[in-house]
Amino acid sequence: MPTKTTIIGVIVALVIVTAIATTFSVLIQQEQPKPLETMETKDTQKIEVGERVKLPEPRYISNTSVEEALSQRRSIRAYSGGNLTVEEVSQLLWAAQGITALWGGRTAPSAGALYPLELYVVVGDVEGIDKGVYKYSREEHDLEKVKDSDIRAELADAAVRQECVRDAAIDIVFTAVYERTTRKYGERGIRYAQMEAGHAAQNVYLQAVSLDLGTVVIGAFVDGEVREIMNMQEQESPRYIMPVGRKG
Ligand SMILES: Cc1cc2nc3c(=O)[nH]c(=O)nc-3n(C[C@H](O)[C@H](O)[C@H](O)COP(=O)(O)O)c2cc1C
Repeated sequence: MPTKTTIIGVIVALVIVTAIATTFSVLIQQEQPKPLETMETKDTQKIEVGERVKLPEPRYISNTSVEEALSQRRSIRAYSGGNLTVEEVSQLLWAAQGITALWGGRTAPSAGALYPLELYVVVGDVEGIDKGVYKYSREEHDLEKVKDSDIRAELADAAVRQECVRDAAIDIVFTAVYERTTRKYGERGIRYAQMEAGHAAQNVYLQAVSLDLGTVVIGAFVDGEVREIMNMQEQESPRYIMPVGRKG
């Protein structure tokens, strides 16, 4: 038979354990992140030409295998009109040319590791990023605004009026600075730089599958017009336009 002292001891112990558990559960509840739908939406602030926008860190794992991405990859030219998130833009640019090694190695191969490609993003409809034209910095993983206006319609006109360029939330424009590769490889460097645009563009296609977004490579455009609309530097040759949007 338990003594009266033992019973009182058990009751006191139970009260203490219950109090500790209640305190922890309140603390744990306070630690829980707010559900996504109750989070504040990101405001799109005005960004001036020359200002930079830091992109969020890309993620390095997903539920889409390389085999799934390859088998589902398709050119998609119809978009719903929904906006992209800054995380999606970050992920697409990283897939194209992100730095993945301390010595500067990237997601796509490059002849002699000379990296002749540059990337621009024509932003039309991205949550948290003001409309305009931006240049991607791989080293900083950020964007520098180079033009203030929404040029999607003008770019579509330069791309023989292909509507997907106008309708996409963003257009990623790939340019090549041939001199970086021709300095070492002569004329052959031009071929190498063009091949590299293909590697980087395929990365964007596969990343788009993983993000459930639609994209297509556009090779039909008037180079001089694209260069002029985008205020490109003299040594840059536009090679691809990749419109990206939510699937229509
Ligand atoms: C070098 C190159 C240039 C292309 N240019 C265009 C283009 O200007 N407009 C377009 O709608 N599709 C363009 N495409 C996409 C092809 O039409 C598409 O890859 C092809 O129809 C096969 O379809 P899939 O990509 O869905 O497999 C181009 C593809 C390549 C490789």
